Amino acid sequence: MEIRVQTSTATQHGRYLPIFIDAKANYASAPARILSFGCSTGVETETLSGVWPDAVIEGVEINDEVRAMAIETYPHRRFFPPSDLAGQYDLVTAMSVLCSWPEKSYGILDYGIFVEACKSIDRCLKPGGLLICYNYTYSPLNVLTDYEALPGNSYGPNYVASRAPDGTNLRAFFSTVYFRKPS
Ligand SMILES: C[S@@+](CC[C@H](N)C(=O)[O-])C[C@H]1O[C@@H](n2cnc3c(N)ncnc32)[C@H](O)[C@@H]1O
Repeated sequence: MEIRVQTSTATQHGRYLPIFIDAKANYASAPARILSFGCSTGVETETLSGVWPDAVIEGVEINDEVRAMAIETYPHRRFFPPSDLAGQYDLVTAMSVLCSWPEKSYGILDYGIFVEACKSIDRCLKPGGLLICYNYTYSPLNVLTDYEALPGNSYGPNYVASRAPDGTNLRAFFSTVYFRKPS
């Protein structure tokens, strides 16, 4: 089943580069396979490639229009819809995906949809793998309860505050960015 989380396809070159540089220095020096979950036009895969040039980097994207742009712009990489999500990755990024933006227009992200998205991320992350997650409405640890929250909040506050499942605000500023799946 394909579940759309974030509806906005906004993205930009170099977005979140400091987070990826931190991740390389501290948590994932040489991941062989990286997945950009919600890759939009694919520019995030290009940013990731600048940090991990030797990795195989792929992108999953639910929106047909921006996924087609990714395929056209980066023909040497694989981009596919969520229905084709089957591989196992050492590192998964979920940047500005597990949220709804702007909330005042679209409302708070449905918690059930968030749960399903976290489960699909978990299915494609190898044991011991790293999940990098930024701008999320609820903490991934609500669902991925055995994951370890790793330090490293140098990039600044999330745009979307973490919330409890009932929608109440949990934390308005800094949230965890790096999560390790148990081995
Ligand atoms: C705001 S963009 C973020 C793009 C990129 N990660 C970045 O931060 O620059 C969120 C993207 O996630 C995609 N998306 C939403 N639900 C998805 C799902 N279940 N699987 C794959 N992509 C999804 C949207 O279509 C959109 O292109």
